Amino acid sequence: MIRGTDWEAFQTLRGGGKKDYFMRDGNIFHVIMSQQFDRTFLDEICELATKIRGIAKVNKGVKFLQSLLLGKRAMLYFVQPSTRTFLSFMAACQILGIHCSEVRDTTISSEVKGESPEDTVRTFSSYVDLIMMRHPQAGFAERIAFLLNQIGRPVPVINAGSGRDQHPTQALLDIYTLHRSFENYGGIDDKSIVFVGDLLRGRTVRSLAYLLRNYEGVKLYFVAPKELQMGEDLKEYLREQDVEFEERDNLEEVIPLVDAVYMTRIQDECDEEGESKKIDYSKYHFKKEHLKLLPTNAIIMHPLPRRDEIPVEIDEDKRAMYWRQVRNGMWVRVALIAKIFLKDKDIMEY
Ligand code: CP
Repeated sequence: MIRGTDWEAFQTLRGGGKKDYFMRDGNIFHVIMSQQFDRTFLDEICELATKIRGIAKVNKGVKFLQSLLLGKRAMLYFVQPSTRTFLSFMAACQILGIHCSEVRDTTISSEVKGESPEDTVRTFSSYVDLIMMRHPQAGFAERIAFLLNQIGRPVPVINAGSGRDQHPTQALLDIYTLHRSFENYGGIDDKSIVFVGDLLRGRTVRSLAYLLRNYEGVKLYFVAPKELQMGEDLKEYLREQDVEFEERDNLEEVIPLVDAVYMTRIQDECDEEGESKKIDYSKYHFKKEHLKLLPTNAIIMHPLPRRDEIPVEIDEDKRAMYWRQVRNGMWVRVALIAKIFLKDKDIMEY
């Protein structure tokens, strides 16, 4: 862990350059950005999640898991809307015997009286052993992890979505979904994935694209309206990491070429001027007639929530994985929390 480095100096570090700061004694401690994970970690987290879901099938295993972190307390500081991430973190904590508290609305916290969000989080870090946070500001979770390190408070912070920049635990569950889907087809290496929709403001696609640099021979396609194409910073990162990618406009041409289609919704709630409401987004919908273009072993993913970019009739297709992603998210989050608290060895030996 870097100690004594001031905030400005820390900010000059780029992505993966910050990762040491999120470690403790050689282990992942804070979970802030996808660039901090390597292939070994990703393989381990997938194996651990699968082991945990097997253990949880019987009562004895449920009790074993609940005993692992019994007496620990966690805070869910979610001040931006969430259904899946909030509930799956809460379920993950319950599986491990952790008691949860929550702040979901700053209008009933002392932030109304002018307390800074940093002071709010610092306050509840006095009461808990783990903080999971979703915040509208990019970089907020990183700032809190920095602050807690600086004041010497050993409370891990998990970024559950920060502004437009990152949603690393969604990326971990996406990797776990890809891993399970391609387990019998050579794994994630050499697979092609198309990201579709609002790529400029979609933090899930950013976080997953960062993670995919850990796999050999992966090819990415970005299909988006030109106003909402993937950010230059991420494309620069992929070039540096030798990850092949192509920007395309026509979804139908790309579907037959890929192993996974990753759909996203338009994020017009981020749109102050209402500009993106004028875009014809129907070109970026996965339609029923697209199913016949999709290879037999390919999968359809979506971080959810969806609007009409995937009609419900697609849900019945065996290649639709988005509801499995939701379930996988809970098991990956159990695995992640267990790993942060160094319980992975106990679980693997069970
Ligand atoms: N995928 C995802 O982050 O969903 P929520 O916004 O509902 O948590």
